[in-house]
Amino acid sequence: FEVKWDAVSAEKGGYDHFMLKEIDEQPKALKDTLRGRIDEQNQKIKLEEVKLTAKELQDIQKIHIVACGTAYHAGLVGKYAIEQLVRIPVEVEVASEFRYRNPILNEKTLVMVISQSGETADTLAALRLGKAAGSRVAAITNVVGSSVSREADDVIYTWAGPEIAVASTKAYTTQLLAVYMFALYMAEIRQTISEQARIEIYQALQYIPEQAARILADKDHAKKVAQGLIDWNSAFFIGRGMDYTVALEGALKLKEISYIHAEAYAAGELKHGTIALIEEGIPVISLLTQPDVYEKTMSNVIEVKARDAKIIAVVNEGDVKSKDVADELIEIPKTHPILTPILSVIPLQLISYYASVLRGNDVDKPRNLAKSVTVE
Ligand code: G6P
Repeated sequence: FEVKWDAVSAEKGGYDHFMLKEIDEQPKALKDTLRGRIDEQNQKIKLEEVKLTAKELQDIQKIHIVACGTAYHAGLVGKYAIEQLVRIPVEVEVASEFRYRNPILNEKTLVMVISQSGETADTLAALRLGKAAGSRVAAITNVVGSSVSREADDVIYTWAGPEIAVASTKAYTTQLLAVYMFALYMAEIRQTISEQARIEIYQALQYIPEQAARILADKDHAKKVAQGLIDWNSAFFIGRGMDYTVALEGALKLKEISYIHAEAYAAGELKHGTIALIEEGIPVISLLTQPDVYEKTMSNVIEVKARDAKIIAVVNEGDVKSKDVADELIEIPKTHPILTPILSVIPLQLISYYASVLRGNDVDKPRNLAKSVTVE
């Protein structure tokens, strides 16, 4: 009798793939990222690692968030959060564009790079460009001691733990948490939101890890939805506002590992082209979690439904209206609307995972992709 053992399967801790293990680790990763940054007594966010003084934070006139891939999508959520809470203009750009276009930077701009590995060549080059222009450079990264962490003026670590699967999951949700905390922290200092609004978001943040765990407790529905996707060569993701940014990440996940062509569209923009591709049965994953644009998005969902698309709707718990429209209804726990992306992305991660498994793909190492792109 011989016990078969190898280091890789031991690391997978009983999971078939790192990706599912990492998806499941999100409640813990989120908790770890929150830990130590909560000032319970004053119900405030404390970011002791941020060395920017209150005066420096007051002086910032513009923020450029620069990143690649999934981290770029985290940056898009950051734009919504920071602009909404702090009322500072935020531009988000992929690093390979930003670094070659001579962006307008000065000492009043903050360049914020987001990078799981902290080693992505284009992101690092963007950071250096910011520094050379005299901008303050902050980084959100998962790897302590990475190039990005060493070169940035301020570092906010995501405590997601090692992420092995190429498709990023727990790094993304913890990056979101980090940008939210930064936005709240800045809003506190610049006093750009009411005390009541600030405390509402602060309190909602505390529930996020447990709400993520609730989503993960039932994976059968995601598996069923994935089953319905795998025979298609194409799928669409639609949403407005923050839902649109999650649609982009959902589409990226699906294409990366299932190789199904997936396109994310701002729901209101569908009628300017993409609706021509809607045919009977085609999956349209529709995100409907944002109350302020709910009716608008719903009217777009009805438009594609009228063209016989299959509607997979991601909605807040208790959303009755969508029941009549959706072929598949995925409910997520209710949180503050601004924080929804952390939760709404989780079912999309699961759907992509199962689609990849069902198609027999190499989930953790999809073709042509690398975990970290350290060359240009
Ligand atoms: C690669 C990975 C992506 C990742 C991107 C940025 O393309 O496959 O999952 O989002 O690089 O990586 P970073 O380490 O900078 O976040």
